[in-house]
Amino acid sequence: MSNKKDSDGTSADTRFEELERRTIEKFKNAFGRDPIFVVTAPGRVNLIGEHTDYNDGFVFPMAIDRNVIIAADWVRHEDHVPSDSARIYSSAKRQPALVKIQGDVLPAPKVDWSEYVQGVIVGYLKETPSVQAPPFVAMIHSSVPLGAALSSSAALEVAVATLIEALTKTSLDPVRKALICQKAEHDFAKMPCGIMDQFISAMGKKDCLMLLDCKSYETKLIPFTSDDLSILIVNSRVKHQLSGSEYPERRASCFDSANILGVPSLRFLSAEQLEAGKEKLTETQYRRCRHVVGEIQRTVEAAEAIQNGEFERLGRLMYESHDSLRDDYEVSCVELDILVDICREIGVAGGVYGSRMTGGGFGGCTVSLIQSDKKDSIMETIERKYQEKTGISPEMFVTRPAEGARILQQEE
Ligand code: GLA
Repeated sequence: MSNKKDSDGTSADTRFEELERRTIEKFKNAFGRDPIFVVTAPGRVNLIGEHTDYNDGFVFPMAIDRNVIIAADWVRHEDHVPSDSARIYSSAKRQPALVKIQGDVLPAPKVDWSEYVQGVIVGYLKETPSVQAPPFVAMIHSSVPLGAALSSSAALEVAVATLIEALTKTSLDPVRKALICQKAEHDFAKMPCGIMDQFISAMGKKDCLMLLDCKSYETKLIPFTSDDLSILIVNSRVKHQLSGSEYPERRASCFDSANILGVPSLRFLSAEQLEAGKEKLTETQYRRCRHVVGEIQRTVEAAEAIQNGEFERLGRLMYESHDSLRDDYEVSCVELDILVDICREIGVAGGVYGSRMTGGGFGGCTVSLIQSDKKDSIMETIERKYQEKTGISPEMFVTRPAEGARILQQEE
C-alpha cells in the first residue's frame, strides 16, 4: 500500500525521507563528510498478546512508521578513534560514546544508551567469531518516542545489528539477529524482556500484522490493508519505565507458577488445569496466570477475527485484554485506563472498535482499532476528554504496519 497520509497530513514515506535526510545532515555536521552506510529499524505496537512472550505464548505486533536511523562511515585518521573502537553520536544526547569492537567487554554497572549499542556489538561478534568489525563512526537519530512503550530500545538494538551486517558484509538469519538483540537487552540494559520487540523490529512487513509463536518462533503474516481501518496510537505521556522491579517480578511469578503446576511454561496450561491447581497458588499468582492463559487464547482469536473481517469481535478482545492487564496482571495505570474508557464511551457507533494499553505497561501508549473516516472526531474527543480528566495533552498518531529493519545505503 503506497503513501497513505498520517493524521497530520504527512505521508509515512515523506516522514521517513525527512528523518533519513536529517540523520545524514547530522552525520555531516559531526564528521565533516557524507556517510557511506545508512540503516534503519522501526519501533512497534502490539495489537494484542501482552506479557505472553516470555511465557512461550503468542503476540500480535506490527512495526510502525517511527524509526531509528544510523548513518556511518569507516574511521579516518582525523577522527582520532582507537583501532579497537567506534565513536557513536546519538542526536538525543550531548556526548558521543566510544564503544569497543574487539575483545571481551563486560556490561557497565550503570546502564546508559551506549550500553545497548555495546551489547549488540559484543553479541554479534561472539556469534560470528570469523567476522571482524573495522573501526567506524556513526550518528544515531530516532523518531520513536522514548519511554512510550513503542520499543525505542529494540529499534536501536536492531538498527545496530543491521549496521554491523552492512559494515561486515554479513547477513544474519533474522531470528538469530533478534535473539542477539534480546540478549543485549538482558545483559547490557539489564531488562529481562521477551522476544517480541526485537522480532518485529527485525522482521516486520509493510501492511502486515505478525502473529508470532514465541515458543517455536514461527511467524504468520496477516495482511492489514483495508483503507477503512486504522491503528491509532495515543501516548498517555506518563513515562513507562520497565527496568524497575515490576517486570522481572511478573516474569518470575509466571515461572514460579508454571513450576508449581508442573508445566514447562504457562503456554502449556489450560484454563481447566489452572482452576484445578488453584489451591496450590497464592491469590496473586493465580490472577497472574489467569491473565496469561486468557491472553494467549485472545491473541489467537484476534488473528482469526481480523482475517474474517470481524472487527467488533477483535475490538471486544482488545477491551478484555486491557481489563485483564489492569485487574489481574496489574500493569496498567490510571491514565491508560482513562484513555481506554474514553474509547469505550465513543464506542463502535463513534468509530472505535477496541482499545487497550500496549507494551509492558505502567504508562506509555494505548493502541486502538478505529474506522478511518471517523479518525478526526475520535482524536478530537480523546484530546479533549483526556485533557479534562488528567490535565495532560496526549500525543496521537495514526499508523499502518510498516517495514522492518533494512540497509538503506552501503558500500558498492
Ligand atoms: C516489553 C517487553 C516485551 C514484552 C512486553 C509485554 O515490551 O520488551 O518482551 O514482554 O513488554 O508484552
